[in-house]
Amino acid sequence: MCDPNWRIETPRLYLSYLSSDNDSHCAFVSELWNTSSMQKANKGTGFTDRGLEAARQRLSDDWKIQDQAVTGFGNYLVTLKPPLPESSIPADTPFSDIEKDCVKVGIITMKRRVHTGGSDAPDLGFAFSPEWQGKGYATEAARGLIKWLEEEKGVKAMFAYTSPTNEDSKRLLRRLGFEERETRELKGVAPNVIQATVFALPGMDADLTKYGLEKKD
Ligand SMILES: CC(C)(COP(=O)(O)OP(=O)(O)OC[C@H]1O[C@@H](n2cnc3c(N)ncnc32)[C@H](O)[C@@H]1OP(=O)(O)O)[C@@H](O)C(=O)NCCC(=O)NCCS
Repeated sequence: MCDPNWRIETPRLYLSYLSSDNDSHCAFVSELWNTSSMQKANKGTGFTDRGLEAARQRLSDDWKIQDQAVTGFGNYLVTLKPPLPESSIPADTPFSDIEKDCVKVGIITMKRRVHTGGSDAPDLGFAFSPEWQGKGYATEAARGLIKWLEEEKGVKAMFAYTSPTNEDSKRLLRRLGFEERETRELKGVAPNVIQATVFALPGMDADLTKYGLEKKD
């Protein structure tokens, strides 16, 4: 069971656990999967079921597979902080009550070994509602999660994989300081073997097989 009061705060945003028990979370994930930009990003990956129950199942499976409460790897909801001075919210208000009134703008993921053949190092993923793109929210949320994982969980190696033609995603990764390493066939991040551009945090070894990434053919 996800702690509904846990969150990371950034200047404009909250990052909280996406829970399979929360209908509005599952509906939001399914809604994002069905946006045209997300369908394009997932083309050829083998993700086919984009419905509500598939979203619920994914969140439930990932919570256990990633051991999210312990590792910090998994799925995060990104919401806008309410446009109220923080002092106007009673200090003992449960975050789950605050979150109900917050606008959902996107999701951020940091997961590892989702499918057979995946790397030991986690990889960053993101999807934002079209109406909330172009405002810097994805960059701010990703920075917040990466900083938290580095500081609180001691994670040093993180990847991000993107379709070679996904320029929005590549621009975001470069803004975050990721380095473009190579474009290759990749196993373990999707049901299908995909062609992906691999980004890595600065300082990661040149030999990516050290992180469990399979050798390039
Ligand atoms: C990838 C994705 C999250 C990028 O979203 P994004 O809106 O471009 O990224 P950000 O939220 O960080 O916004 C950055 C933009 O906001 C602009 N911006 C506007 N106001 C800003 C502010 N106050 N602070 C920071 N940036 C601001 C920036 O200049 C930047 O614009 P630019 O890219 O034209 O230079 C989005 O395109 C998406 O959800 N795509 C579909 C899913 C997908 O492809 N996922 C990746 C799979 S690997």
